[in-house]
Amino acid sequence: MPGTRTSDVKSFTTLWLTLLSAGLVIAGAAWAVASGGPQTQLALTPPMGWNDWYQYECKVDEKAVKANAAALVSSGMKAAGYRYVSIDDCWQGQRDANGFIHSNSRFPDMKGLGDYIHGLGLQFGIYSSPGPKTCAGYEGSYTHEQQDAETYARWGVDFLKYDWCSASQVYSPDQMQAAYRKMYEAILKTGRPMVYSLCQYGLEAVWRWGASVGGNVWRTTDDIGGDGYARVSMFGFQQNGLEKFAGPGHWNDPDILQIGLGQLNFDEEKTQMTLWCILAAPLLAGNDLTHMGQQTLSLLTSAEVIAVDQDPKGVQGQRVWQEGPFEVWVKPLAGGSKAVALFNRSLSALTITARFGDIGVHDRAEVRDLWARKDLGVFNDGFTAKVPPHGAAMVRVKEIR
Ligand code: GLA
Repeated sequence: MPGTRTSDVKSFTTLWLTLLSAGLVIAGAAWAVASGGPQTQLALTPPMGWNDWYQYECKVDEKAVKANAAALVSSGMKAAGYRYVSIDDCWQGQRDANGFIHSNSRFPDMKGLGDYIHGLGLQFGIYSSPGPKTCAGYEGSYTHEQQDAETYARWGVDFLKYDWCSASQVYSPDQMQAAYRKMYEAILKTGRPMVYSLCQYGLEAVWRWGASVGGNVWRTTDDIGGDGYARVSMFGFQQNGLEKFAGPGHWNDPDILQIGLGQLNFDEEKTQMTLWCILAAPLLAGNDLTHMGQQTLSLLTSAEVIAVDQDPKGVQGQRVWQEGPFEVWVKPLAGGSKAVALFNRSLSALTITARFGDIGVHDRAEVRDLWARKDLGVFNDGFTAKVPPHGAAMVRVKEIR
């Protein structure tokens, strides 16, 4: 380079090296977020567990969480696949002079609670907000993200639900992704893997970017409770179309199961379980596990229905046919067979047919009733079932070639 001094060459080289290494750092960070770094092996199938919110709201305490964790094991739910025991809002106390969060008097020993949950072979979930306050007005993580992530890691937390709430007062909508990424990076820095559950009610089409900010699951809807079948079915069925955004490690979350909470009748509960499993949605029970009827337990633990949710292919099902309030949904499974759900959203019992042409099956197929755990035989062209009002049927269809 004529007229160029050695020092210029040096600084030119230094500049390039700096730019190159900065590029590598940025690329590395992007890779860590995209690949999840230490988070990569989390939620390869939709998370299953229990969350206290609908049963206890702010009356939750350590005793209730321990009792439900123990019941998760003794009831057989752990054996059915449920793992995460999650405290929702209202556990937070004050920050100390150094800014570290402490639990309130209802949770005297969070580390001890984590140890208890782990001692049962379960995993520990907690809740916070990117805003200054949680939805119930408790202390949020705003400006304390790293400290909070470290505290959770110290307590042995395995799952964090991060709920937008008052963040709307300190961030604009276009800062939402950065706010969620900030906590993700704080979790990464602790070195402790935590399933990262985004809760912002589906704002800003979260399904399009949830995974890119480290989310393993993201709520696609507002809160599901309080309005029985109307809300459960509205939120559940409106997941159609979001299937392309779900897959191993990153799932759409239409919120907590309402089974056993007294909001739905038996067929409506069966509809929620069937739909959530066809959707590959997280299965988070929300009822009091310490006082659970046999019917509730059997809906929550039906092995072949849960196997559809947990299928390793990790495909979210979709609607393939609709006629007014009657719907047929399909979820392709590992091994080539298909889970097929027939839904009746009307108030009278009616027959619904899943035509094989609509579900991508030719001519003849073996059909198995997944709720009854019974082979129904070989069918030609389609499968017809009488489905009760607000009810559902679910079968596995295996093409005979
Ligand atoms: C929001 C969330 C709920 C629950 C409450 C707690 O409404 O969507 O799932 O966590 O906050 O306050």
